[in-house]
Amino acid sequence: MKSEFRENVLHWYSVYKRDLPWRRTKDPYRVWLSEVILQQTRVSQGLPYYLRFVERFPRVEDLAAATEEEVLKLWQGLGYYRRALHLHQAAKTIVEDYGGKFPETYTDLLQLKGVGEYTASAVSSICFDEKRPVLDGNVYRLMARYFGIYSPVNAPRSKAEFMKLAGDLIPAEQPGEYNQAVMELGSLICSPKQVQCERCPLSSGCYAYKENSVDELPVKIPKQARKKRYLDYLVFETPDGATLLEKRTQNDIWKGLYQFPLLEGERPATRTELLRHPVFETPGKVHFLLPEKPLKSYIRILTHRELHVNFWLVRVEGNLSVDRVSRQDFEKYPVPVVIAEFWRDYTG
Ligand code: ADE
Repeated sequence: MKSEFRENVLHWYSVYKRDLPWRRTKDPYRVWLSEVILQQTRVSQGLPYYLRFVERFPRVEDLAAATEEEVLKLWQGLGYYRRALHLHQAAKTIVEDYGGKFPETYTDLLQLKGVGEYTASAVSSICFDEKRPVLDGNVYRLMARYFGIYSPVNAPRSKAEFMKLAGDLIPAEQPGEYNQAVMELGSLICSPKQVQCERCPLSSGCYAYKENSVDELPVKIPKQARKKRYLDYLVFETPDGATLLEKRTQNDIWKGLYQFPLLEGERPATRTELLRHPVFETPGKVHFLLPEKPLKSYIRILTHRELHVNFWLVRVEGNLSVDRVSRQDFEKYPVPVVIAEFWRDYTG
């Protein structure tokens, strides 16, 4: 059963795999970059990001030499910005501590910032033929269906069971091809919805297919409800079109990105609360005009959060002495996508 599984997956992959730029190289820097991006998004969305990264940073030295802002700017829109910061830090470690030589084993790769079991397995198997199984959402789903495993795929205690099975399945030869093959089959054929069993090379041995339980598997523990967060931004506008931005430094979403001065709470801010924001205590002869209502409002659904974002326009009369950001310079700052969208709507 296991050898049939392996051989069918590998053969299917050799015929149907997508031609993707990171599959044409064994350069661990590029493979690592692709895997980190693909943890964040699907292939179609990740591809343009990958291409921009390798064009701007063809080698790990180029990434290491970049500023944090530039890395975040290229990452903008992928979300989970800590990944981008870790990517940057790992590149610096490789250049500064390892003399630019990329680590070549699973164990050494694990030492890098942001590199966990998944990434270390993917890079060591694809680039260095190490026999390390990958477990991503695609692989969990494929195995749960094929072998009829009802342990919840998102429960930490199920991991050992799936890992054991994945370890028994992975071949000693071409472990990297095999790992990519199971992920590819999971994403193209054995998808969460609209499964394509009629095209699947594994259907004759598949538990879920034979038992008509494809819709029941994999089992998932329901997620807890999303927490609501209310973000009220003050969009300053001086007579010459400048505004104010600050950097998010807390360990929270969007760390390292820039934003307008913010008031955040468990409910939307009132105009009175906003007027107490410390940013209004600028010295000098400055007048602020804050309207009764926000200029624009957006709702953003993230994995664990529901964001309610209001943008309040604050017209400034007089000259702001604090750090100002001109209209031209605004585009250079990495900002959360909702702010970029607002800015496009507002200035567009
Ligand atoms: N998803 C993430 N990495 C992948 C890879 N290398 N091949 C197929 N799907 C993937």
